[in-house]
Amino acid sequence: MPSELGNFLKILLIIFFVSFSNILAATINQNDHEKKFYIVYLGNHPPDDEATANRAHIDVLSNLKGSEFEARESIVHSYHRSFNAFAAKLFNHEAKSLSDMEEVLWIFENKYHKLHTTRSWDFIRFPQSAKRKLKTESNIIVGLFDTGITPESESFKDDGLGPPPAKWKGTCNHHANFSGCNNKIVGARYFKLDNVPDPSDILSPIDVEGHGTHTSSTLAGTLVPDANLAGLAAGTARGAVPSARIAVYKVCWASSGCSDMDILAAFDHAISDGVDLISISIGGPSSGYVSDSISIGSFHAMRKGILTVGSAGNDGPTSGTVANHAPWMLSVAASGIDRGFRSKVSLGNGNSISGVGIDLFDTGKSYSLVSGEDAAKNSDNKENARYCMEDSMSPSKVKGKLVLCKLQDWGVDSVVKGNGGAGAIVTSSRFLDVAMIFMAPGTIVNYTVGEKIYDYIHKSSSPTATIYRSQEVNISAPFIGSFSSRGPNPGSLRLLKPDIAAPGVDILAAYTPLKSLTGLKGDNQHSKFTLMSGTSMACPHVAGVAAYVKSFHPNWSPAAIRSAIITTARPMSSRFNKDAEFAYGAGQVNPLKARSPGLVYDMDEMPYIQFLCKEGYSGASLSVLVGSKSINCSALLPAFGHDSLNYPTMQLNLKNKQEPVMTVFRRRVTNVGPSNIVYNSIIRAPKGVNITVKPTSLSFSRALEVQSFKVVVKANPLSGAKILSASLIWKSSRHVVRCPIVIYKT
Ligand SMILES: *[C@@H]1O[C@H](CO)[C@@H](O)[C@H](O)[C@H]1NC(C)=O
Ligand SMILES: *[C@@H]1O[C@H](CO)[C@@H](O)[C@H](O)[C@H]1NC(C)=O
Ligand SMILES: *[C@@H]1O[C@H](CO)[C@@H](O)[C@H](O)[C@H]1NC(C)=O
Ligand SMILES: *[C@@H]1O[C@H](CO)[C@@H](O)[C@H](O)[C@H]1NC(C)=O
Ligand SMILES: *[C@@H]1O[C@H](CO)[C@@H](O)[C@H](O)[C@H]1NC(C)=O
Repeated sequence: MPSELGNFLKILLIIFFVSFSNILAATINQNDHEKKFYIVYLGNHPPDDEATANRAHIDVLSNLKGSEFEARESIVHSYHRSFNAFAAKLFNHEAKSLSDMEEVLWIFENKYHKLHTTRSWDFIRFPQSAKRKLKTESNIIVGLFDTGITPESESFKDDGLGPPPAKWKGTCNHHANFSGCNNKIVGARYFKLDNVPDPSDILSPIDVEGHGTHTSSTLAGTLVPDANLAGLAAGTARGAVPSARIAVYKVCWASSGCSDMDILAAFDHAISDGVDLISISIGGPSSGYVSDSISIGSFHAMRKGILTVGSAGNDGPTSGTVANHAPWMLSVAASGIDRGFRSKVSLGNGNSISGVGIDLFDTGKSYSLVSGEDAAKNSDNKENARYCMEDSMSPSKVKGKLVLCKLQDWGVDSVVKGNGGAGAIVTSSRFLDVAMIFMAPGTIVNYTVGEKIYDYIHKSSSPTATIYRSQEVNISAPFIGSFSSRGPNPGSLRLLKPDIAAPGVDILAAYTPLKSLTGLKGDNQHSKFTLMSGTSMACPHVAGVAAYVKSFHPNWSPAAIRSAIITTARPMSSRFNKDAEFAYGAGQVNPLKARSPGLVYDMDEMPYIQFLCKEGYSGASLSVLVGSKSINCSALLPAFGHDSLNYPTMQLNLKNKQEPVMTVFRRRVTNVGPSNIVYNSIIRAPKGVNITVKPTSLSFSRALEVQSFKVVVKANPLSGAKILSASLIWKSSRHVVRCPIVIYKT
């Protein structure tokens, strides 16, 4: 889509799509005329201090360039806190030479990636009155990698909070247009290593987009009574952990998006600053686990006990689009809650229809109605005018009228308004489950309704319509947003992603005063709180739940916290979500249950490496994760089974086999509930799938005892369905520990 990406994708965009760096080898033979940024990885162990690191990095580059001066010129950043690497501007052939050097473990090109509560907590039954450990909660620091933050927002007041915990090593420097930190926002940094000026942004942690303010307040915002958007969605806005502290790492910029170099710098700092969790509503088309800055950075975070929660992406409902699917991350899909926004539209013939969206205009006025197509400048422009595209309509034909437009690019209301029109009725086959905000009177209807309006326009001599201000309605929920990216996981046939679903449709949270509600030309609507949709909004819900779990269990590993969240999720129905687990993972997040899961599937870092070896990654390619030149994958592979990962979900790919397939999953569970307790297995399997578990019951005599079991899955070839859902449940008198089992064909 050209320039006019428009409101929806920009706000709902929810996500900043960071796509991924290619492995150098793929690009090495391309043209060599211009310099590009590369990230050169030297190892896991950070040098003693900044000066030593920088010296060492300059030495490496000087050897290549022949002079220290040139080396200093081309280096843009030394990563030295959590791992040892540098970013530099280089020619292709220089990058190639570097990759041949003994001390260089891995090198990849920096990529730029395009930008593409109220009610939600109550809906998932996480009431304001939920039991809390306030003291430990206030010791939790959550790191958000996003567009920055709005420190003036009421959501970030620090009333009642003491100074940050002693472990905190981060800082909050004074920056332009940034009023500074307090005991709520305890850290704020920005990274823009390319040094290219961005006139639409400000070189400081301040948020000019609204996205980072929104996600931060969902995660850890304090209570703000009577938050609303012009009266809509009113309620008390609150984060999952209102007492936790926020550390902001601004890595996304209004014009350029979010780059690998900046994301890695944020990981390098956040890990050493001492954050407890990282929430990253940034993503993009998937790539390998060793060439994606989020995958690499989150691996390093995991090694230090920090769980990274990521958004699944907004490329649904196309299958195989899920992002942030590394096995050490938690990938979050977006679900809808039971509150929708509708606008009544009355046509001049007395018919009344219902449109979707947020129209805050209360004109109650009847306008003449015209179709974009009929308002075309000339016959050559008919097709573009049908979509109300820029420069396609004749202003004299739309002046003062409502225009019927097909949806292609968001922002048609702005184009119509710019041509002197009154507003727009937009027809679309997609996005009917999210409420886009309009900057002029407007609403969205489906094609069937659109046809009716079109007919009415052509049958009536003076067609008119009135669009009424939007109202809240009750809708049936939960459902997975049509935009939410779907599995199967493009990174591995053996690992179910997304992991979990959380509210991400029409979420009210804090916003920036520096941007209008839509960001569209001509919009002057502003609000301290606004509604946004996207997996970007779902991600901080789950990151917040992870922080909540951690406040009760400060010593749990990232895998244990993730397991608690996955095994306690509320099952969702494949009747309403035909992609089943590929849409919702284990189901809807259930914060209160996640606090006390009974059993956890725990693991440290080694199983991840074994898993990648099994996936076919070469020992050398894993150097960027393990920090040594090469590891011997054949020595690492476990003797048994196809599945070394102690993951709380199981996935079996049948390929296109015509005969039954059998596989064995081996797992271990750790008792984190009461001692002297027995768990019995319950298997739920659809027709054509036989599942057995051995042993069928597990008894634990003490806390933290570990028990192993194996699950044998036999499945007939799938005829109709692409995906079958089964599950293994361990049930005690107190707990239900559910592990989804997915069988699918490619
Ligand atoms: C940022 O600060 C500068 C200097 O004080 C000021 O001129 C500018 O208007 C500010 N920008 C915004 C968006 O507040
Ligand atoms: C279109 O919307 C109308 C009114 O909301 C609804 O009754 C109808 O079922 C929808 N049609 C389709 C194909 O979704
Ligand atoms: C929606 O449901 C709530 C309770 O579930 C009820 O109080 C409210 O009146 C309903 N609103 C509408 C518009 O039906
Ligand atoms: C890797 O490990 C395998 C199995 O332990 C061993 O046979 C092989 O010699 C090792 N290769 C190297 C290069 O060390
Ligand atoms: C499942 O078990 C039934 C009964 O023992 C058997 O008839 C069937 O062939 C089995 N199916 C598979 C896929 O193994």
